[in-house]
Amino acid sequence: MSSRIPVLELEDVSVAYDTHNGPVQAVNRVNLKVYPEEIVGLVGESGSGKSTLAYAIMRLLKGAAFLQNGTIKVMGKDIYAMSPKELQAFRWAQMSMVFQSAMSALNPVMTVEQQFIDTLRSHNKQMTLEQCRMRAAELMDLVRIDPKYLGSYPHQLSGGMRQRVVIAIAIALEPAFVIMDEPTTALDVVVQRSILDQIQAIQRKVHFAVLFISHDFSLVAELAQRVAIMYAGRMVEVADSRALTQTENHHPYTEGLLRAIPRLTADEIVIEGIPGHPPNLVSLPSGCAFHPRCPYVTDECRQQRPSLYEVGTAEIECHRYAGQKVVQHV
Ligand SMILES: Nc1ncnc2c1ncn2[C@@H]1O[C@H](COP(=O)(O)OP(=O)(O)OP(=O)(O)O)[C@@H](O)[C@H]1O
Ligand SMILES: [Mg+2]
Repeated sequence: MSSRIPVLELEDVSVAYDTHNGPVQAVNRVNLKVYPEEIVGLVGESGSGKSTLAYAIMRLLKGAAFLQNGTIKVMGKDIYAMSPKELQAFRWAQMSMVFQSAMSALNPVMTVEQQFIDTLRSHNKQMTLEQCRMRAAELMDLVRIDPKYLGSYPHQLSGGMRQRVVIAIAIALEPAFVIMDEPTTALDVVVQRSILDQIQAIQRKVHFAVLFISHDFSLVAELAQRVAIMYAGRMVEVADSRALTQTENHHPYTEGLLRAIPRLTADEIVIEGIPGHPPNLVSLPSGCAFHPRCPYVTDECRQQRPSLYEVGTAEIECHRYAGQKVVQHV
């Protein structure tokens, strides 16, 4: 797989927000590759920097947020080296995103069909109305909504249907890479499950790569081939989903997440939390950001940020793996 050109390549990426209290380091020297047709999960607690990273990839950072360091390549192209015109042609057509607040991503005063037509025409001005309508109906079929709903307004659809429409619009121009930021969080469990099944089915048919962002570690491990784990703006581990439960060597935070998956024993449900709290990003702990919560903490962890090590098929940022091959030095 590593011989192929990644659809997404993050190299030493940092993103900060300028605030009155100084810069908030929301994404902190992150490395990640996503390959064609792959689903990679991105998990981490609320505030760990997942959405900020997604906006940085789309070059949609707003207000106080800025790319501080690193390069972001999509399909081999440096997103931040593009002219505004190049970016306009590239975004949505080659890479697209389903936003965390997808419910508000639809325009309430436009029919579903009109929203498909706008997206299609924004990149293919020569498309006729008839061609747009046919493509819109095809996309509705793909997300299993009866095309008769094309004439509806968003409020006339259920939450699950709206979410499917948003996904259909995101893939309308056949991008090679789609970021989905918590696409099912607002939905009930049954609808959530059916949409996840559909994302997998569509992805098998249309072959795009996905960066799937979620709080839900067990859901992501099931959906994705690989899982990237963020803690306090840092990518602390990237591992094959299967290896997550089958191998022993993980980042201590990942170990905590694995223990936190609810388990059913003979007569009770066991849920173990990770003791402590995520740090304040304005004043990160010295050394490894996880050290105040880590059961294996040593003086080195308090003093020095660990390098990223290759451990089996995983990449882990932890001093316990010093001696393994270094992927990225501190
Ligand atoms: N507008 C802002 N101004 C200053 N800091 C911000 C702003 N937005 C986010 N942050 C900081 O960036 C950090 C990361 O936020 P982000 O929204 O990327 O997290 P997330 O992992 O997507 O969280 P969630 O799971 O809740 O969606 C937050 O902890 C916060 O400190
Ligand atoms: Mg978010």
